[in-house]
Amino acid sequence: MRVLGIETSCDETAVALVETNPWTTDVLAEVVSSQIELHRPYGGVVPEMATREHLKNLPLLVPRVMKEVNLGLDAVDAIAATEGPGLASSLLIGHSYARAMAVALSKPMVGVNHLEGHLYSPFIAHRRAVEFPFVGLIASGGHTLLVHALGWDRYVKLGSTVDDAAGEAFDKVAKLLGLPYPGGPEIEKMAKQGNPEAFGLPRSFPERDNLNFSFSGLKTAVRFFFEKSPQLRSDPAWVHDLCASFQKAVVDVLVRKAVHAVSLARVERLVVSGGVLCNQALRHELEFACYEGEIELLLAEAELCTDNAAMIAGTAAEKLEAGIEPYVGNDIDPNLDLFAPEPNGDFARGLSTAIKLKNRQKKDVTQKEGVGAPGEIEIW
Ligand code: KG4
Ligand code: ZN
Repeated sequence: MRVLGIETSCDETAVALVETNPWTTDVLAEVVSSQIELHRPYGGVVPEMATREHLKNLPLLVPRVMKEVNLGLDAVDAIAATEGPGLASSLLIGHSYARAMAVALSKPMVGVNHLEGHLYSPFIAHRRAVEFPFVGLIASGGHTLLVHALGWDRYVKLGSTVDDAAGEAFDKVAKLLGLPYPGGPEIEKMAKQGNPEAFGLPRSFPERDNLNFSFSGLKTAVRFFFEKSPQLRSDPAWVHDLCASFQKAVVDVLVRKAVHAVSLARVERLVVSGGVLCNQALRHELEFACYEGEIELLLAEAELCTDNAAMIAGTAAEKLEAGIEPYVGNDIDPNLDLFAPEPNGDFARGLSTAIKLKNRQKKDVTQKEGVGAPGEIEIW
């Protein structure tokens, strides 16, 4: 089965063609048109500009992908597009384009959840069929999410950020330090030359069974050091140390929580994706921790970490092959959730209830003993 996928949830216009075979799903061709340069002067994504770019790009990228494989659109069995979450106007362009193509070609149209695509992307990189269960970590500019994946459409939320996403924290700290957008790669460059132990920065929610994230305290701590030391800002070594310490604080929390999630969910596999996974320090620390903990680790490759259409087409193809009733996308949903209000299956329900209960008990104990609110920041 061949599926053509379109992804336009934010500032990347992406198109990919995938083909299923008995063992895995192959990416036959893919193109991503990044708008980073366009948005850089504004320090973030400007939705209207992103929308206009998608409109301009799609009619060029779809024929380019088909030309690369020397196939006509009649060779495609289904069209998939991101349904959400994302920027409403950006989603609408890709989704409407896919719907129009599906109608014109009399092919089925499948709406795909962007987050489900991210969860699936490491399997493409490893050329493997999806194997459940696993714990998925998505760390991007819009999301920081730990998921217990039990099967297609059977996801239990284990933790998420209560404020900024990990990538957003990189972007905001970079802005504070006067570095260009997007901040993640810039901070990583600086951090390579710095000492990660130079500044004692906070790690939030240190409790083992609290799998939520918070990066606003960390961001404030960086701001505090920055504003307190105007005379040091022009010293490159000082900036390198601050970047290295900040990066280490984010990486520590992501790795520690992901490993805890694997043991709490009692699975053996950790699957990680999202733009922040382009960070080499994060990749190395995940590899080290999973080696130590005897956890199988699947990391998306750099080009599949950031937004792409192979993950959208691949998710649709795998679900269609697995006989899952596809969502026939009639509309976009900028706030589309990955989690059913009541997860399917007793195990999923049991697990989410157990985690909720544990967190509630923890809250009761901490409040009774007056040791501060859960989520109090601690320096490791
Ligand atoms: O997944 P993505 O392309 O878009 C979203 O869906 O959000 O992620 C973009 C985010 C940005 O916040 C960017 O700063 C961050 O990923 N990022 C990085 C690195 N490369 C990209 N963060 C840390 N280190 C990097 N090398
Ligand atoms: Zn994304």
